[in-house]
Amino acid sequence: TNAPKSIIVIFGATGDLANRKLYPSIYRLYRNKELSEDFAVIGVARRPLTNDEFRSNVRKSVNHFEDEKVDHDTFASHFHYHPFDVTDLKSYQRLNDLISTLDVEYRTEGNRIFYLAMAPNFFGTIAANLKSEGLTTTKGWSRLVIEKPFGHNFESARELNDQIRQAFTEDQIYRIDHYLGKEMVQNIEVIRFANAIFEPLWNNQFISNIQITSSETLGVEDRGRYYESSGALRDMVQNHILQMMALLAMEPPIKLTTDEIRSEKVKVLRALRSITEEKVDKYFVRGQYDRGTVDGNEINAYRDSNSVDPHSNTETFVSGKLLIDNFRWAGVPFYIRTGKRMKQKSTEIVIQFKDLPMNLYYDKGENIHPNLLVIHIQPDEGVTLHLNAKKGDYSSTSTPIQLSYNNNSNDKMNTPEAYEVLLYDCMRGDSTNFTHWDEVALSWKYVDIISNAWENKSSDQFPNYESGSNGPKDSDDLLEKDGFHWWSVTRDD
Ligand code: BG6
Repeated sequence: TNAPKSIIVIFGATGDLANRKLYPSIYRLYRNKELSEDFAVIGVARRPLTNDEFRSNVRKSVNHFEDEKVDHDTFASHFHYHPFDVTDLKSYQRLNDLISTLDVEYRTEGNRIFYLAMAPNFFGTIAANLKSEGLTTTKGWSRLVIEKPFGHNFESARELNDQIRQAFTEDQIYRIDHYLGKEMVQNIEVIRFANAIFEPLWNNQFISNIQITSSETLGVEDRGRYYESSGALRDMVQNHILQMMALLAMEPPIKLTTDEIRSEKVKVLRALRSITEEKVDKYFVRGQYDRGTVDGNEINAYRDSNSVDPHSNTETFVSGKLLIDNFRWAGVPFYIRTGKRMKQKSTEIVIQFKDLPMNLYYDKGENIHPNLLVIHIQPDEGVTLHLNAKKGDYSSTSTPIQLSYNNNSNDKMNTPEAYEVLLYDCMRGDSTNFTHWDEVALSWKYVDIISNAWENKSSDQFPNYESGSNGPKDSDDLLEKDGFHWWSVTRDD
């Protein structure tokens, strides 16, 4: 099905996100003929650019696609530029005029998406002005897509939400969590609910622990200012990690509809055992990277990065043990871990099954490797089931084997990218893979306790992990105390 005709207004059109993710995603939808010819993009930003200059930027952002099928000039001709001042109401009126003109030209039937791909300080102002200047009133539909960070804590998130809710209803708001657009994150649901063999085991009788790791090799790059006020907990755990956890832990919804899935995810977040500030250090470990070597390159410490306080107490690594107090998961730890400047770029989920009632191979000196189901989110995409089988020799001892499915062997060029999927969903009005306010609120409430504890008690041990490592030793101890260890995050071991 083609996405309905619409005008996409991108605020922050000269920014990094627009250039790196949004234009290429629009391009791929266009190339794959998912986008009707009747679409227009209006780029909005402060800088005074002409349409031609803007189009040439757009062409640059897609010039790595050397597609003979697509004429890049024709593609770029759908893009229009509107120089803009966030606080000047006249800017909105002129934008409204432009939308109306293009609406006729492209026959978009009044459908419009406002995509806020910019720093969040102005989200509330923009939403309010869009409404007051009549841009949200249309004979078609209007939707608001909003990038993270959605607030800094629960209070600021609620304030922001109240502001945008004055202009848009909840079902017009599409809060981006780009992990929900990733192919293998979407696959969690299918693996769980389209197979007979996992769901009966998916509980505290058979699963001993679940591990979610999202490690990065990149540092803070040029985002020091944002990151200083965020840290790994707010940047990755509040959103991406808790979302993956909710998908892993939720009950099967009665139907695969947006509302049913969402309501199951919300129940998981409500069942998260909340901890007191005093206990945070027992359940969570924070880290900050020191100098080191990543992929053969010498790396500076976080504190030596641009726009970072040389005595910064911001964490670039978090690991934690989360508990879900419900019948299915009581007693099963969910270990989470994320960090920058780690050994490798990898997001993986490991489901570790309980040990056998007894080991019949003990007399032969064999330890039995526990069964693991590993979901490779990125960069590899796939699933590996770790089993045991007979060693290929004269003995009858066992050896670990792996059954693997590799999604990358599909044509990589045709696997849709996260932003492409999410944009497409938004155009179709499907908000399943966006975060509802209830989820945002619960996640912030959980995370706030941890960040408050950390803010009230600075770490005297930072920096505490070398760039290129797997994080601080305390993170390993966290699991060892429970008799577990982190499973390595590569397919090869
Ligand atoms: C973003 C964070 O949400 O996710 C970044 O703000 C992080 O700090 C990024 O690098 C990771 O996304 P991905 O898709 O590269 O895993």
